[in-house]
Amino acid sequence: MCSIIGYYGKETAAPIIVKGLKRMEYRGYDSVGVATESNNQIGLKKGIGKVEEVNAKVHLEGLPGKIGIGHTRWATHGKVTDANAHPHPSTSGKIAIVHNGIIDNFQELKNDLEKEGYQFKSDTDSEVIANLLQRNLENVKNIKETIIKTVSELKGHYSFVAMFENGQLAAVRFHEPLIIGVGKNEFFLSSDVLGFIEYTDDAIYLDNRNFVIIDDDKMQILDFEGNSVKIEITKVSKEFADAYKGDYAHFTLKEIYEQNETILRSGEKTLDAIEKTADYIKHAKNIFVTGSGTSYNSALIAKQILSKYAKIKVEPIISSELQFSPDSIEPNSILIAISQSGESADVLEAVNIAKQKNCKIISIVNLLTSSLARESDVVIGMNCGPEIGVAATKSFTSQLGILYRIVEKLSNGSFTVDFKEISNSISKILENPYKIQQIAKDIKDISDIYVLGRGIHYPVAIEAALKLKELTYIHAEGIPGGELKHGPLALMDSNVFVIIINPNDATYSDMLTSAREIKARGAKIIGISDQESDVYDYWIEIPKTNESTYLISEIIPIQLLSYYAALEKETDPDYPRNLAKSVTVK
Ligand code: AGP
Repeated sequence: MCSIIGYYGKETAAPIIVKGLKRMEYRGYDSVGVATESNNQIGLKKGIGKVEEVNAKVHLEGLPGKIGIGHTRWATHGKVTDANAHPHPSTSGKIAIVHNGIIDNFQELKNDLEKEGYQFKSDTDSEVIANLLQRNLENVKNIKETIIKTVSELKGHYSFVAMFENGQLAAVRFHEPLIIGVGKNEFFLSSDVLGFIEYTDDAIYLDNRNFVIIDDDKMQILDFEGNSVKIEITKVSKEFADAYKGDYAHFTLKEIYEQNETILRSGEKTLDAIEKTADYIKHAKNIFVTGSGTSYNSALIAKQILSKYAKIKVEPIISSELQFSPDSIEPNSILIAISQSGESADVLEAVNIAKQKNCKIISIVNLLTSSLARESDVVIGMNCGPEIGVAATKSFTSQLGILYRIVEKLSNGSFTVDFKEISNSISKILENPYKIQQIAKDIKDISDIYVLGRGIHYPVAIEAALKLKELTYIHAEGIPGGELKHGPLALMDSNVFVIIINPNDATYSDMLTSAREIKARGAKIIGISDQESDVYDYWIEIPKTNESTYLISEIIPIQLLSYYAALEKETDPDYPRNLAKSVTVK
């Protein structure tokens, strides 16, 4: 979602803030702004567009002062306009805030504040925070009490950083991430370690319902009741600083190409946790698995491979749906929560529901310091390094790698995975992208693509459709091959492309029949298979492997196709419109 950042130190704040915002831009990127304090005055610049564009236009970096705040936005309340961009000053201009999250009761608060004469210049929910802080500071005259009063009035999920004209900074965490970077004579407040990792790897992960006040070069952490909280500094893995594109044109392409490596590393550093997970699963009465988007698609695969190769029944649940059917989880069950970021609000909500039912939480997560990891009984790290492209690519295959490792442990030796072989298959597909680039040109102007798969390949079809939607903005749908004749066949005509996921396993001949039925209606067929067929208008060859490991080989060409089609359509594959990498609002 949005990214927030604050700096308090001895250096000029604005360039440091702009740099941090660029690194966190994957969280939201429709507008950007910076405010700094200098000589007891707040200066502020903001505008719509990416960090680089706005900086070129208004020179954000030119703001003076050694204390400042910054923000990149992913619009929730109010359109993408200059006025709605953060930071938001209070009516007096003596306080400015940046906010991530949603204030549920902003309209009532705004009505009250307006009656009292406070002015609003934006349509955002965030601006009420600035005016509430001003009103409360005018009444209680000290920042600690001001924050305590303000958070008692706010409803919703939020983190914010507030800067006061006397150069004090305060930051609050309530169900949205907030991390303090502790440098030499300087402090950073950020949604993500990427905001400051270049300067320090000492971090404090603020707990929920905690806030920090930075003043006179000192920092004080308190809870919402005003009690002091013990400061615990964690060393952040420098690996997460490595968020550069290198020679690649885009992060998405880099991350697709890393998969021959990352698949080998999946879960590697947390093998004990995999062992423990297998043990929990063996003794559990009920097992549920949850996630959102791509991570939910991995949950669907978990169901398939656990039942097929380990004879264990698990039920996948879309995280955002659980709140409407909490009884679908029995007390004392196991919930496996899958999330790249570990910060998806929907996943955290599902975990919260399960915890209330005394369930054990196992997380499969990339960011080991994330909120999800901290809520879990067992944490399995994906170990695939930072994923910056909004479309999940390497995190998906790493999730599958971990699921394979869990199934291996549970199958009593009947299921084994040759990770080296999978890695080689990925390399082979990636070595030759030329045919895929050609197909990308041919699909760029079409409006509908369907992706068909059967059995364990059906969830891959759903994931493939998600990639195509996100990156190309083409309508795409994953369909179980056998369902074609029960409805979707009506959609097939010469304007349509259909991708057939067709490895040479038990699903092969049925899928070929479906392809022929589609072809007879004039649609163009892209076959993803280790075996050529005359029914394919385009054949994307994948190496021959075994049934379970085909899953990974077959998603790679579709990730590439989506990426190259995005380039053909001149959209930005790293930052698809309207989306953000980690969705920290519900
Ligand atoms: C995938 O390409 C998406 N960008 C999105 O669906 C993502 O997988 C989802 O938001 C879940 O994110 P998480 O894994 O960080 O929880």
